[in-house]
Amino acid sequence: MIILGIETSCDETSAALVEARGFNFHVLSNIVASQIKIHAKYGGVVPEVAARSHITAILPVIQKALDESKVKSRKSKVDLIAVTAGPGLISALSVGLETARYLGYAWGVPVVATNHLAGHLYSSLLNTRGRTSFTRSDLKALKFPALGLIVSGGHTELVFMKAHGNYKLIGETLDDAAGEAFDKIAKLLGLSYPGGPELARLAEKGDPHAYEFPRGMIGSKDFNFSFSGLKTSLLYFLKSQKLVAKSQKLANICASVQAAIVDVLVAKTVSAAKKYRVKTVLLGGGVAANKSLRQKLKTALKKDVSRSTFYVPRLEYCTDNAAMIAAAGYITYKRRGATPLDRLRVDPHLPLR
Ligand code: KG4
Ligand code: ZN
Repeated sequence: MIILGIETSCDETSAALVEARGFNFHVLSNIVASQIKIHAKYGGVVPEVAARSHITAILPVIQKALDESKVKSRKSKVDLIAVTAGPGLISALSVGLETARYLGYAWGVPVVATNHLAGHLYSSLLNTRGRTSFTRSDLKALKFPALGLIVSGGHTELVFMKAHGNYKLIGETLDDAAGEAFDKIAKLLGLSYPGGPELARLAEKGDPHAYEFPRGMIGSKDFNFSFSGLKTSLLYFLKSQKLVAKSQKLANICASVQAAIVDVLVAKTVSAAKKYRVKTVLLGGGVAANKSLRQKLKTALKKDVSRSTFYVPRLEYCTDNAAMIAAAGYITYKRRGATPLDRLRVDPHLPLR
């Protein structure tokens, strides 16, 4: 089955063609038009500007995805359209959704409304055509129960999965998301937008033990997170400091901040994996691109939850993309069928279920 994925929930306009063979996902094309440069001058994503950029980008991006995949835009070629219906920015989501509805009518192809977070959960199971290691992404080999850690700019969630497409939220952030914490702290440190990746890059040259920043809720019995205390603590810390760009001290602060965020994410994920006796752990979301998180979580799971298999997305599938939407949409379609075109709706707070 060939799936066209469409993603416009925030500041990336993306379209992808993914071939699902049984439960193997082969990415035939994945085009991402980023608006980062447009929003950089505002220091954050402006919803109205994002929606307008999606409008001009969406059709060329879909055309490019079709061309690159060599899948023709004929009705017989695309079997399913998966589109992000939420969560996200309402006006941005609407552009993708209305485009999917239109293509569904025009091509006579079923459309499935897809949850963006389900996309992040399935992103570690995507493979690129031409690569040989397909067995790793064989969803039949994926054992349940599974645990997903979604860490993005808008979400930090631990999700328990009894089966494909069966999601139960067991923990979430009570304030800032992990990516948001990276971005806000990077801003306090004077790094350019979006700061998360820049902070992570500087952290590589720093000492993670140089400063002791708070690990919010690390000892709490639940699986919730809190990162706003870390931001406040840094704000006070910086009042007494003189920071110089490119200095070793700045790198040490970045490494110490990163360690504080990563330690909490790892500790909560490991304790949830133990409590729920999971056989699989899935990592997803923009912050999944963080090298330290990938490494520390892998090591901790190997040590403490040795029966589990850890799936990490390729770097290109960590941040928002339509290939992950195609994969998650396929799972939703298998479980619940298509969404009638007149019932396709965006929901900025769409829950994962
Ligand atoms: O998943 P995503 O593209 O968008 C949302 O759905 O929110 O995630 C973007 C987030 C941003 O906060 C960005 O700073 C963060 O992911 N991010 C990183 C890294 N790369 C992206 N955070 C830490 N380390 C990274 N290497
Ligand atoms: Zn996302």
